[in-house]
Amino acid sequence: MCGIVAYVGDREAYPIIIDGLRRLEYRGYDSAGVSIINGSFNNYKKQGKVSDLEQLLEGKDLHGTIGMGHTRWATHGVPNDVNAHPHLSGDGNLSIIHNGIIENYASLKQALENLGHTFKSDTDTEVLIHLIEEIRKGEKDLSLEEATRQALQKVDGAYAIVILEKDNPDKIVGAKKSSPLVLGIGDGEYFLASDASPMVKYTDKVIYLEDEEIVTIERDKGYQIRTIENKVTNPKVLQIDLKIEELEKGGYDHFMLKEIYQQPVTIAESMRGRINAAEGWCKLGGMELHMNRFLNAKRIILTACGTSWHAAMIAEYLFEDLARIPTEVEYASEFRYRNPIITPDDVIIAISQSGETADTLAAIKSAKTKGAFLYGIVNNVGSSIPRETHSGSYTHAGPEIGVASTKAFTSQLTVLTMMAIILGYQKGKISEDYYHRLLSELESIPAQVAKILNKSEQIKYIAGEVRNASNALYLGRGYNFPIALEGALKLKEISYIHAEGYPAAEMKHGPIALIDMYMPVVIIATNESAREKIISNIQEVKARKGIVIAIITEGDDKIKEMADFSIEIPMIEEPLSPLLSVIPLQILSYHIAVMRGCHVDQPRNLAKSVTVE
Ligand code: F6R
Repeated sequence: MCGIVAYVGDREAYPIIIDGLRRLEYRGYDSAGVSIINGSFNNYKKQGKVSDLEQLLEGKDLHGTIGMGHTRWATHGVPNDVNAHPHLSGDGNLSIIHNGIIENYASLKQALENLGHTFKSDTDTEVLIHLIEEIRKGEKDLSLEEATRQALQKVDGAYAIVILEKDNPDKIVGAKKSSPLVLGIGDGEYFLASDASPMVKYTDKVIYLEDEEIVTIERDKGYQIRTIENKVTNPKVLQIDLKIEELEKGGYDHFMLKEIYQQPVTIAESMRGRINAAEGWCKLGGMELHMNRFLNAKRIILTACGTSWHAAMIAEYLFEDLARIPTEVEYASEFRYRNPIITPDDVIIAISQSGETADTLAAIKSAKTKGAFLYGIVNNVGSSIPRETHSGSYTHAGPEIGVASTKAFTSQLTVLTMMAIILGYQKGKISEDYYHRLLSELESIPAQVAKILNKSEQIKYIAGEVRNASNALYLGRGYNFPIALEGALKLKEISYIHAEGYPAAEMKHGPIALIDMYMPVVIIATNESAREKIISNIQEVKARKGIVIAIITEGDDKIKEMADFSIEIPMIEEPLSPLLSVIPLQILSYHIAVMRGCHVDQPRNLAKSVTVE
């Protein structure tokens, strides 16, 4: 949440910063601002999207080779011009941008007010820059980085910050704790940003700063990194493999649509080099190194948030069904705070697209202290969760920019399915035959997904029929119950239609009261094992005049006749079916949201990477 970008070098800073803000806008989009030094200190900010800021800046003198920008997702203080970043010190000499939350800001603010400071905004960020200013008042020659270091020692909470000083057009100071900050190292130029996307055009050399590190960049001297305890560190410079095309829409109307259509490729990427059905093997490097921990695990605990939590729910079915390992699923935000019983025999798997979700990160940090083995399933290479876990597997879906997660989810499912198959086979819980069938069907998933994508026009027609609904119900059983949850989440987050996911059999314990002729009920009806029961559920909905949209197996004429609309998907082994059944639900939500005129890639109030708890 909140995107940060800063630049110092020989180029004009503003175009780099504004382009960087557009790339980081997925992190927050309720207001944006820039600071540029060019003799004078140019600080501008505006409520709204980056495009609103650009309009404000038209015709302004923004030349200069040092500057920074911010796109905000509000935590403290409503989204408006005043609360937008950057924030200035009382004397106007320092400017700060911040991603995170200063938890003890109220007491710091009070102390500063007692010393005569006055504040313009309601933000915690403004308090921090006043604190740095106050520390420097005592010692005029104190460097900006040293004052920042001393200030951060007084701060509780999470931050990625960048600070500029009006009279020092050659220096940038940045620091991080629990929110990401990447240093990009070019040829005589430097970048700081929340992720590497603003810098990939210019450099592939980066350092992912660690918690409580402070970086000082000086135009002609280079960079230096110190800890908050004032120890110099020498982190390894990494080479990133990120191409600019991966960050563009590539001809699609929205990133979400591009990402839905990328899935045949991204699912294949998640499997690349990890499975060969013809030769009968499947392996994950991160697992192989620790196979005994998995094989001897008394319990697997999966923790995640949102869509990643839905992937975890499906993994519970997979691990228990295929590998017979007791498995639990925990919302990361609850897991951490309810004093869970964790032993060294437990394997904890954290699932996250961004690798930065604050709740998931906090959950695994606390589990680590109890001796559990931590495994990460993460998309974003170099993010915080992989650095906190003992081992893990990247999902290799490539950058996901649409706020609603699609391709990241199916790549998580692909990795989790491979894990369950490996464990089931190695523990002797699945037959040789079934093992080989699962492998070859898993390999066929990209082609099957491509077939479903070809049904987009049919799904668009259905979307048109239900676009004006106020509520929707999603029902599924077994492996497809979490897909019902995921379908409902996709619809509500991008179209603002209230939607609920339920296990199909639970409908009669309450939600059935909601069903009338205006209520679309999406039923995932592909499970062979519960076919007759699902047919009964459909009849129950029809008897109350609900509009049934059924996801069915190809050729299932019986359910097709009962449903108002049906979408056929290829027949597949049940444990693999979520990888197919979620695709039509993603497409349905997308079309409904577009028809309702919603901002699909940037739904209101949301942000892609939730780095606050
Ligand atoms: C929904 C969505 C969110 C994320 C959640 C966790 O479409 O994208 O619910 O799944 O915020 O994010 P990660 O996976 O980055 O930890």
